[in-house]
Amino acid sequence: MSQTATPLTFEVTRRPDPRPDVEREAVLADPGFGQTFTDHMVLATWTRDGGWHDARVTAYGPLSLMPSAAVLHYAQEIFEGMKAYRHEDGSIWTFRPEANAQRMIRSARRMTLPTLPEEDFIGSLRALVEVDQAWVPAPGNGEASLYLRPFMFASEAFLGVRPAAEVTYSVIASPAGPYFPGGIKPVTLWLSTDYARAGEGGTGAAKCGGNYASSLAGQLEGIEHGCDQAVFLDSSTHTYIEELGGMNLFLVTKDGRIITPELTGTILEGVTRSSILEIAKELDLEPEERRIPIDEWKEGAANGDIVEIFACGTAAVVTPVGELRWAGGSVDHRRDGHEDRYAEAIRNRLLDIQYGRIEDAHGWLTRLV
Ligand SMILES: Cc1ncc(COP(=O)(O)O)c(C=O)c1O
Repeated sequence: MSQTATPLTFEVTRRPDPRPDVEREAVLADPGFGQTFTDHMVLATWTRDGGWHDARVTAYGPLSLMPSAAVLHYAQEIFEGMKAYRHEDGSIWTFRPEANAQRMIRSARRMTLPTLPEEDFIGSLRALVEVDQAWVPAPGNGEASLYLRPFMFASEAFLGVRPAAEVTYSVIASPAGPYFPGGIKPVTLWLSTDYARAGEGGTGAAKCGGNYASSLAGQLEGIEHGCDQAVFLDSSTHTYIEELGGMNLFLVTKDGRIITPELTGTILEGVTRSSILEIAKELDLEPEERRIPIDEWKEGAANGDIVEIFACGTAAVVTPVGELRWAGGSVDHRRDGHEDRYAEAIRNRLLDIQYGRIEDAHGWLTRLV
């Protein structure tokens, strides 16, 4: 649909007024998440007749869109989420960018957006991080990073329901502090039985904005019940565990299996999820991908067959799960003296690879700067 014959060149125009060093350093000292953005952004345009062109790095700032831009009406939009990590020697790396590039290609196909070739996707990250490298935090306690948000949307000014003939690609970046500044704390999950996140034949496997909009009502219901996040079930039978609004799930059994819902087309294929399935054996765990009935969670947590539960994704890496609540009940797999032993080991293993503290035996890192 949109392959460019030669790799894109990102023309760089540096803004004359970047944030002063002291202001940037103040942000990096306590960045939070997704609040402050770097000085620049990537932009590129695709047209049906011209393919990808006009690729550039320019000052971060408002986009100019017609009110009739198709994305504002029909939500033809996709995105990715990844991080740039500074190693002790000052070099800057990212984790499995080919996997994000390929997922964006799959998302684009599902949403009838043009595909951006893998080398242009990685080229866009490199171009932005090169210019804004001062915004990549020092490793510090090993969990600060620069969050990268590539996204693509239908920018054509046309109110017809059909794939847009003009599309914009962009990458913005935001420094991110440790996900758990006060130490890792297990989350309480709400079992969303009235709201589904995705349905068969729908867009659950694509990273498109609509999936997140549709997850918010379940998420809010969970918060109203004192929970941190919601877990969604399959929308056909309301029986099988799918995922959270923005993370995949794993259960660890007392006989050493690590189980995650299989990819049925309604679940996002997380890069963290795939990586955990690959490193499980190194931690003497037997990985299993299959449909998991919610009753298996409830019964296994109650009778001790399930010893650990955790969620995973780029932002938090691995987050232990504690209690599961639903309308009229709750269950907690933790007993006296409970430790999230595997969640911590997996979390540390991934962070050690990402920050270059152990050998990258899987070849997962790509140097950006
Ligand atoms: C719905 C959903 N599931 C799972 C994930 C985890 O994916 P990854 O590990 O690639 O960040 C994310 C985060 O991107 C997500 O939004």
